[in-house]
Amino acid sequence: KLPQYNTVDDALQLLRTAPPESIIVLSGAGISTSCGIPDFRSKDGIYARLQESGQYDLDDPQDMFDKELFLYSPSLFYSFAAEIYPSNFTPSPSHKFIRLLETRRLLLRNYTQNIDTLESLAGITRVLACHGSFATASCVTCAFKCEGRKIERDIMERRVPTCPECEKRSSSQQQTQAHKKAKKHKNGRRSSSSYSDEEEHDDGKRTGILKPDITFFGEKLSSDFDRHLASDRSRASLLLVMGTSLQVAPVSSVVGHLPHDVPVVLINRTPVLHIGVDLMLLGEADLIVRWLERRLGWNPIEAGTAKA
Ligand code: OAD
Repeated sequence: KLPQYNTVDDALQLLRTAPPESIIVLSGAGISTSCGIPDFRSKDGIYARLQESGQYDLDDPQDMFDKELFLYSPSLFYSFAAEIYPSNFTPSPSHKFIRLLETRRLLLRNYTQNIDTLESLAGITRVLACHGSFATASCVTCAFKCEGRKIERDIMERRVPTCPECEKRSSSQQQTQAHKKAKKHKNGRRSSSSYSDEEEHDDGKRTGILKPDITFFGEKLSSDFDRHLASDRSRASLLLVMGTSLQVAPVSSVVGHLPHDVPVVLINRTPVLHIGVDLMLLGEADLIVRWLERRLGWNPIEAGTAKA
């Protein structure tokens, strides 16, 4: 029979007695809302704002992050991307708590769904950005990859960034085609435009567009996710779920993927009812972690000392 966890003292005990490098933290947008970054599914979250603005004509606001739609209409995403582009934000007490777990050698890994890179800014090194980040961007057509800052200006100016490699290729193809066309014309034959071939093959999807390496719906997570989860599974003593609605698979499946004797403690503003957790600490994540730190007698990491 598995032990029951009913009180906040149970959570304190789990934290106090965790073996080295055995706590997995699964985090989401709720740990960054106090930094000024909206979450997705709250009343004032990104999806509600997208719906209310009426600006984007989306059946479902989640479609803003739909890979298929992006391929047909990248300008839709780029008319909005500046709103979620990580700017001058600083980590919250919740990020610092995760870093504190790491400095105390308790953190096994932080699986984050966030793309704001605040974990890294807080100094957390054992972090896996499951949904990627704006740190790099890739071409949707060829293998070209570049640093995210190369498309920062396009994002801010709401332009669709194009792939320099594809552009080079297409301009040299155009030159060859123009050359062939000129030759045909010179030989007196009627030329059917070689450009129209390209249009005939076109299924409406855009090519040669750069996309930030954040995971869209319809895209696979990096293989690091499965690899880390497979090895972390047997080393976990506690799963701390922080600031997430656990609505999005496969990250939400981390909970079910761990052995049944690994307790799951949720720190969140709202309860999560569709996935079984052992204990819910409900409220503002920053206040809860500060309270836990005090009760555990752990010195919190203050602003500017995140790299301690
Ligand atoms: P959600 O917006 O779905 O959930 C955030 C959760 O955090 C909610 O349950 C809030 O109640 C809670 N919350 C908000 N502020 C909080 C605070 N200050 N303290 C405590 N709890 C707070 O965000 P995620 O679960 O992170 O994916 O969303 C998962 C994924 O869905 C995202 O990574 C994104 C989105 O679609 C992609 O874009 C692929």
